[in-house]
Amino acid sequence: MSTVTSAPSTSATIRDASAERPLLEIQGLTKEFGGLKAVNNFDISIYPGELVGLIGPNGAGKTTVFNLITGIYTATSGSIRYKGIELIGLQPHEITRLGIARTFQNIRLFPNLTVLDNVRIAYHTHAGYGIFDAFTHNHRYQKAEKELTERAQEFLSVFNLHTRQGEIAKNLPYGEQRRLEIARALAASPELLLLDEPAAGMNPKEVASLMDLIHFIRERFNLTILLIEHQMRVVMGICERITVMDFGEVIARGTPQEIQNNEKVIEAYLGRGATALSQKLQEKRGYATGS
Ligand SMILES: Nc1ncnc2c1ncn2[C@@H]1O[C@H](COP(=O)(O)OP(=O)(O)O)[C@@H](O)[C@H]1O
Ligand SMILES: [Mg+2]
Repeated sequence: MSTVTSAPSTSATIRDASAERPLLEIQGLTKEFGGLKAVNNFDISIYPGELVGLIGPNGAGKTTVFNLITGIYTATSGSIRYKGIELIGLQPHEITRLGIARTFQNIRLFPNLTVLDNVRIAYHTHAGYGIFDAFTHNHRYQKAEKELTERAQEFLSVFNLHTRQGEIAKNLPYGEQRRLEIARALAASPELLLLDEPAAGMNPKEVASLMDLIHFIRERFNLTILLIEHQMRVVMGICERITVMDFGEVIARGTPQEIQNNEKVIEAYLGRGATALSQKLQEKRGYATGS
């Protein structure tokens, strides 16, 4: 895995060097909406422990790829194998149970629950009691609930959110809501984490600390991560490999350096007035993530 050895991070030790087989292998994936091919013959292989970037202009098909992997959409054709298991045709909850978790481009927390409860809910699927126990609030229920709360609190400390545990999620600053969403996704103990534009709307300082956090959780939780990002610069510093999409298709793959100098990629980003303009506007508003 030469791509992995060129990693800019220090996390090579967590990788399974003997793993020849990709954790996730997507081949010929196509999704049509009416006449539109939102994803067209898309391929990607991700090996255990990798942090791979999926980038492309707005509307390129990135989120649709996540919706296909997680079973929200059913593919028109192609295959998505995770640990050798075909995911197409499985229900979202079955895919979650296999060890895949995601975050959403638009934050999806339980806005009126506390920070702690947002994580506790994610843990609940693992809780060691049945409905009878819960109704009678018996000893087993109380013990399980206590353990669950402690685990959730421990988890929140990892994300530096423990001092916020009693706050209502919607009242957190935006950057912390994003962190909480990642914490919640990880409470399901995934092996593969799919992050859909986690840096969207963050200021440069928040972006930098988010990227540190992503590196940190990869090692701490032994994760493989596929990271969608719209702005190229955000992923340049942290991903070992990048796949670039445009109009549903892969237009380039390679290391950040290779991608940065790829003409098709430059054209996809800069050749579109609207994209260039929107980036300029974002920069003006201080959302630039200069590297
Ligand atoms: N449920 C849907 N119905 C119809 N068109 C869709 C649907 N979801 C996505 N699309 C279209 O597919 C294309 C890719 O969208 P998306 O995957 O969200 O792009 P990205 O995440 O790269 O910005 C867009 O043209 C979008 O309008
Ligand atoms: Mg998207």
